[in-house]
Amino acid sequence: MNHFELTGGELACEGVPLTRIADEVGTPVYVYSTATLERHYQVLREALVGAGLGDPLIAYAVKANSNVAVLSTLGRLGAGADTVSEGEIRRALAARIPAERILFSGVGKREAEIAFALDAGVLEINIESEPELELVEKVARAKGVRASVALRVNPDVKAGAHDKISTGKADSKFGIALPDVERLYAKASNSPGLRPVGLACHIGSQISDLASMDEAARKMRGLVERIRAEGLSLERLDLGGGLGVPYFNQPEPPPPSEYAAMIAGVVKGLDVQLAFEPGRMIAANAGVLLARVLYVIERPDGRRFLVLDAAMNDLLRPAMYDAYHDIRPVKPREGEAVAYDVVGPVCETGDTFARDRKLPPLQPGDLVAFMTAGAYGATMSSEYNSRPLAPEVLVKGDRHAVVRARPSYEDMLSRETAPDWL
Ligand code: LLP
Repeated sequence: MNHFELTGGELACEGVPLTRIADEVGTPVYVYSTATLERHYQVLREALVGAGLGDPLIAYAVKANSNVAVLSTLGRLGAGADTVSEGEIRRALAARIPAERILFSGVGKREAEIAFALDAGVLEINIESEPELELVEKVARAKGVRASVALRVNPDVKAGAHDKISTGKADSKFGIALPDVERLYAKASNSPGLRPVGLACHIGSQISDLASMDEAARKMRGLVERIRAEGLSLERLDLGGGLGVPYFNQPEPPPPSEYAAMIAGVVKGLDVQLAFEPGRMIAANAGVLLARVLYVIERPDGRRFLVLDAAMNDLLRPAMYDAYHDIRPVKPREGEAVAYDVVGPVCETGDTFARDRKLPPLQPGDLVAFMTAGAYGATMSSEYNSRPLAPEVLVKGDRHAVVRARPSYEDMLSRETAPDWL
């Protein structure tokens, strides 16, 4: 469900025609819908609460879309933040998400980042390995504090739409291996610098069947019970993110209500606070990338290229994961659908958004919207080919605001210098 609809023959975000945004801000530009963000958060929350899961912490995965305005929108509804760097913690704090709703995850936290997280007072640090556990302990003891930590477990479950976004198999870099979990939990419990509060897992992204999540949750439940049987205290279980979204041509992901019912079945009778780290399911359908057609090139063999002003540096997912994004003309023209290879201006063949995509006829100057681009869109963009980062616009009802400006070429160049000894 999203709030990008054809209104009066053209695509609008809530009450704002996308043409207006493109004309004012230029293209390429990301456009986000407040109503969609809010709805996705509420639907998930209501599903979890409705399934009898108490008052779970929904720690939105900042990496999906880290714009401060997006974080503020979710934070105001009560969302926490799952962060993986000092930069993300700073963003969450800047969006006034209280530190006690911030989780710090990630496989390679630096000492300074751990110190920053402890000073900020984050709810918990999700520890991914024994050396990291020792470093957090050292930093906490030097500060004279006890760091609240959870152990991120690698439950050895295969999940996720693509190998590059599957994180829960034993051979992936993430998490503590199952045979080590109980020993490390006990080790943390005996440390004056650590206060273990729970377990966490995250097995992958764009997951469209519940079986893998169910398997992981059951393994986590088993661990909770075994750790408690040792007489150790464990109050929180973080089951990660990963729920998929419909990208048009993919298996329909399970609705949040089914997910919540599955979790409720697995954790029945287990007295823990639950936490979740959803990213994509909150942000993906809340955003589009707007681009303009620069050229329509027709080859003698009949192949047609649609060259846009957006490129792989703006939306990396098709190049990196062969991801499918629906492409919709903002003002669809009459006429037979035409097959286009939709490409950007970057000097790589990989800068191809779609091959042989059937679209209504398009002409130079027309606008198109890449749908479902609100998650892992702007956050994965780069300045490759020295292209300025696309700006971001947030819409709420009939209002809109630029929430990240397009950098000027002067901004981009001002970060670099050629030393005078050259
Ligand atoms: N928690 C942790 C520890 C994660 O690593 C991730 C995502 C999430 C939560 C959120 O997962 P979600 O609910 O969004 O599936 N760039 C890829 C996705 C990478 C996901 C990485 N981790 C893509 O564009 O498909």
